[in-house]
Amino acid sequence: MARRNLIAGNWKMNNTIGEAVVLAQEISNKFYPDWLDKVDVAVCPPSVDLKPVVNVFEFDHLKIGVGAQNVYWEEKGAFTGEISVGMLREIGCVYCIVGHSERRNLFAETNEDVNKKVRALIAGKIKPIVCVGESLAVRDAGTYLEFVTAQVRAAFAGVDAFEAKDAVVAYEPVWAIGTGRTATPEQAEEVCAAVRATLAELFGAETADGMRVLYGGSMNEGNAELLLAEPDIDGGLIGGASLKAASFVEIVKAAM
Ligand code: 13P
Repeated sequence: MARRNLIAGNWKMNNTIGEAVVLAQEISNKFYPDWLDKVDVAVCPPSVDLKPVVNVFEFDHLKIGVGAQNVYWEEKGAFTGEISVGMLREIGCVYCIVGHSERRNLFAETNEDVNKKVRALIAGKIKPIVCVGESLAVRDAGTYLEFVTAQVRAAFAGVDAFEAKDAVVAYEPVWAIGTGRTATPEQAEEVCAAVRATLAELFGAETADGMRVLYGGSMNEGNAELLLAEPDIDGGLIGGASLKAASFVEIVKAAM
């Protein structure tokens, strides 16, 4: 099945509202709307920037999706500091990153937390971008396929094929994030293919065939084309290079 690539920028904890609006506007200015007939594009700014960034793209009638970087699974209540799916939906979020390795490692997010978030997002009609990926120690131990596919199974526990079909998985080897050490296309493809095989076990081949598996980790305008040429890599989750409009737009072009 022909899957349309998704290029998603993860801005992480960068950009005040003023800076976020400038970056979104720079992206918009460099963008030809008909590109979005060939590739899906999203940016994931910090929570406080979400609405201002949605406004920029809406004003320009540009269907770049906006996504959050995290969410809490409860609907409302005494959960100081958290943000619900309903809140994200109301401001126009269409995606939400879940289980990024920075959240797993710095904020002790577990596979169970990731699963609760995935289920809450699906119920609330926001597409989860589920991050999985092994540390350097796991890569060196040679058990990375088992590790990553176990993360995929845990993230989708209790989810059926119909619910899963719009979810996205992003393979982000921790050793490649922010290090400038990109996985080779072969290394990335090996794991993305294993992720898809796991999705096929869980949801059937047809559903797995239609789901997008992204690569993330030091992806930039210089290496995107070769990574995206791999059959099981359906886009990228871009950190550092998504903070520069020119680089981000070049990656989008490589994905068309
Ligand atoms: P870098 O592109 O900066 O390596 O970050 C990747 C990432 O973590 C995207 O979620």
